[in-house]
Amino acid sequence: MTAQPSSTQAIPQIGDVPRHIAIIMDGNGRWARKRFLPRVAGHKRGVETLRTVIKACIDRGVEFLTVFAFSSENWRRPPEEVSFLMNLFVAALNEEVGRLHANNIRLRVVGDLSGFEPRLRELITDGELRTRGNTCLTLTIAANYGGRWDLLQAMNRLSHAAPERAGQWSEQDLTPYLAMAHAPEPDLFIRTGGEQRISNFMIWQLAYTELHFTDLLWPEFDAAALDAALASYRYRERRFGRTSEQLTAGRESRRTDVVPPLTEDA
Ligand code: IPE
Ligand code: IPE
Ligand code: MG
Repeated sequence: MTAQPSSTQAIPQIGDVPRHIAIIMDGNGRWARKRFLPRVAGHKRGVETLRTVIKACIDRGVEFLTVFAFSSENWRRPPEEVSFLMNLFVAALNEEVGRLHANNIRLRVVGDLSGFEPRLRELITDGELRTRGNTCLTLTIAANYGGRWDLLQAMNRLSHAAPERAGQWSEQDLTPYLAMAHAPEPDLFIRTGGEQRISNFMIWQLAYTELHFTDLLWPEFDAAALDAALASYRYRERRFGRTSEQLTAGRESRRTDVVPPLTEDA
């Protein structure tokens, strides 16, 4: 099994546009409440926002977009809301997979799918299979996903695969078993809705991700809001443990090609 390199092992290539954006799409309920609508109206509207953001990401050259649609903790919500969300997921897959495929988008769904009804699981498998050769953007939907669930399922699978090396496992041993092994670690994390927390999303992969929080509620988020996040990202200095001076020296050396580039973990 191969996995993408880890930001704590080797410094990834960094461009002006993040290769991978991860989003916690939060604030649907409050958006609806502000309009005296039922909370679920916000979820419905949120699907439209996601469509807009996917297109904007493609236009800007983003390769991977990962969105948190339903957390392992969201089962604690009122049963009517949970069941609305499940039906919405089914409807969205029915309506959108054809469109994703036509736009050369690869769909992945990560999370504990055993928690879903067979009909939903089937739609997920079909959607992933149908779009697996697509190359324009990888859209990953995290559903019944939790960062701790992911770490545990990866540890459990690794313990079955390599029991003889228990006690000596490394990062490289574990990462192929993580649900997000198909993607590099996110460069930019965005959370809408004003809360400044991770809520059990990608806790392993966010180790060196740049974080961006906005008060906009998810249904209000649009291409301009994405551009604001991208603008803030461009100003960040991603040091991965190094000093600012090392980065400057690295940039200069790359210009003259005297010293090895910063992508090598020295
Ligand atoms: C995020 O919006 C969507 C899901 C968690 C499914 P919320 O439903 O959390 O909206 P707020 O935070 O209550 O406004
Ligand atoms: C996080 O949002 C999960 C999703 C967006 C799917 P929540 O609204 O559930 O997060 P908390 O519980 O307020 O942290
Ligand atoms: Mg919320």
